[in-house]
Amino acid sequence: MKIFVDSAKLDEIEEAYSCGVLDGVTTNPSLIKKAVDSLKAKGENIDMTGYIKKILTAAKGTPVSLEVAEFTHRGMIEQGKRLFDMFNPVANNVYIKIPINTSFEGEKGKEFEGLKAIAALSKEEIPVNCTLVFTPEQALMAAKAGAKFVSPFAGRIDDYIRSMNSISFGKSDYFPAEGLVRDGEMLENNGIVSGIDLVVQIVEIFEVHDLATEVLAASIRNARQTREAALAGADIATLPFTVIKDLFIHYKTQEGMKSFIQDIVPEYRDAIS
Ligand code: E4P
Repeated sequence: MKIFVDSAKLDEIEEAYSCGVLDGVTTNPSLIKKAVDSLKAKGENIDMTGYIKKILTAAKGTPVSLEVAEFTHRGMIEQGKRLFDMFNPVANNVYIKIPINTSFEGEKGKEFEGLKAIAALSKEEIPVNCTLVFTPEQALMAAKAGAKFVSPFAGRIDDYIRSMNSISFGKSDYFPAEGLVRDGEMLENNGIVSGIDLVVQIVEIFEVHDLATEVLAASIRNARQTREAALAGADIATLPFTVIKDLFIHYKTQEGMKSFIQDIVPEYRDAIS
């Protein structure tokens, strides 16, 4: 499974890539806002174009998703092309993020906007990462339209299931892949019992129908969910920087390191120094 860093903070991206096994970057307008806010807090001037170019360079040729901020298919196509023409020449690694559906609160008449934009950009060989995917059928339609990646939002499904059932939770709390039972009933949303279940179902559909689109498990909240995304057969998981660091943590690893260091005898140190 490929690991992407889910961040627009250049320092986080650079540090994540220093571990040597990173495969890409995902951004969205909220992540860009966080990066901009933190630069502003440091009193730094922001040249957005230059900043994005630095992110593309830091990603060392691996895919970087940049999201459109338009809601009609025409707007998304135009902006997607502009983003691609402006930024892809930097490192040849831009993916355009398009939401599967841009209608707000069930508003009618915009159901196909995302799909039309995905199809149009894909036809021009602009790679698309279809975002805000919450059902397997959304993923199927995005794949049919030519998206290179589909991004099921695993953590947000878990949040939704908990919120709908008045269960309080913290953002990085673990939610079991097999779902939660309350009062003898399995909690679910539209036949999906967890964010990882959504990933499992999409992976299965893509396998059964031999679809080449890669499943990018997004909105991942902790290390255990990352493990479950890998077990589910996700092609990619995009992880916040804090989750990437958590992948390496185990009490017994730290305890073991301490005791190995204490046990180094001078003879061994001299021999290996
Ligand atoms: C990445 O592509 C998504 O935009 C991101 O993973 C969403 O994560 P969140 O649900 O934690 O905001």
